[in-house]
Amino acid sequence: MATPVTIAVVGAGMRGQTYAACAAATGKASVVAVAEPRSAARDSLAAAHAIPDDAVFDDWRVLVEGPRIADVAVIATQDADHVEPAVALARQGYHLLLEKPMATSEADCERIVDAAEEAGVLLAVCHVLRYTPYSRRLKALVDGGRIGDVVSVEHLEPVGWWHQAHSYVRGNWRREDTSTFMLMAKSCHDLDWLTHLIGRPVERVSSFGGLYEFRAERRPEGAADRCLDCAVEASCPYSAPRIYLPLLEEPDRVWPLSVVTAERSEEGVLAALREGRTGGVCTRVTTTWWITRW
Ligand SMILES: NC(=O)c1ccc[n+]([C@@H]2O[C@H](COP(=O)([O-])OP(=O)(O)OC[C@H]3O[C@@H](n4cnc5c(N)ncnc54)[C@H](O)[C@@H]3O)[C@@H](O)[C@H]2O)c1
Repeated sequence: MATPVTIAVVGAGMRGQTYAACAAATGKASVVAVAEPRSAARDSLAAAHAIPDDAVFDDWRVLVEGPRIADVAVIATQDADHVEPAVALARQGYHLLLEKPMATSEADCERIVDAAEEAGVLLAVCHVLRYTPYSRRLKALVDGGRIGDVVSVEHLEPVGWWHQAHSYVRGNWRREDTSTFMLMAKSCHDLDWLTHLIGRPVERVSSFGGLYEFRAERRPEGAADRCLDCAVEASCPYSAPRIYLPLLEEPDRVWPLSVVTAERSEEGVLAALREGRTGGVCTRVTTTWWITRW
């Protein structure tokens, strides 16, 4: 049997945990190191993969101080925190599996490509839609000429109403200045998918949109800053208790409750909705949370 590929996970949040579990499940890879500042997430991933203490780090910067200890680094930090670890780890000789979006500016994307090319390491970005069975089938049909010449594609990225509130209003992608703009945050998947499917480079992208719903002036009369204190919560479509509490009845479903809390009890979820950022904050609480560019 071939020697398993060894993996260092950088950022043991939602995606880091997922990739670690998926990689280990193939039987062809072994997670041998983790870098993560949050102790609970770090310890949980280290325990799940029996990572020795000397390969457990609280920051990717500490990981790169030492010699290379894995074949591959999975970089699953937040969007604005991809470029620095990607460049440093490439220079250290790690092949990179880098979460999307590569980086939040073209210049930073180029820095990553340059670093990977100079170091001669592989660089793959997690544009996962390409690899779904339906995408592979569609690609084979298009490439095989089954539907003739493709002259136009209609494609919709259906971000549901609660997903929009969860990720792009209350969640990690709520502000352009700490993550990136909507087209990059969500639809980089779609741009990649279209490019992959059609097999021709993009010539022009036009992006426009606006915020209609999540504005302070659309806040209902009597609304509080948090759902748990809110007089109109029962009639609000974005009621956090109504979105998250029923998920306790689906123990096999990890996301999106896992972003709100690791607790799987009503008490734990309510505590997170009372104190946490993702979850219990009114979607119309303040204009400063708007994503400003589409
Ligand atoms: N491919 C996809 O379909 C897909 C889906 C969701 C998210 N993503 C992308 O994956 C990335 C991670 O998203 P997530 O939801 O897992 O976020 P997350 O916030 O759950 O995880 C990010 C982790 O990085 C850690 N981190 C912060 N600073 C660090 C440092 N200095 N060293 C090491 N770790 C550090 C954080 O503590 C956190 O645990 C984002 O870029 C996101 O856009 C991709």
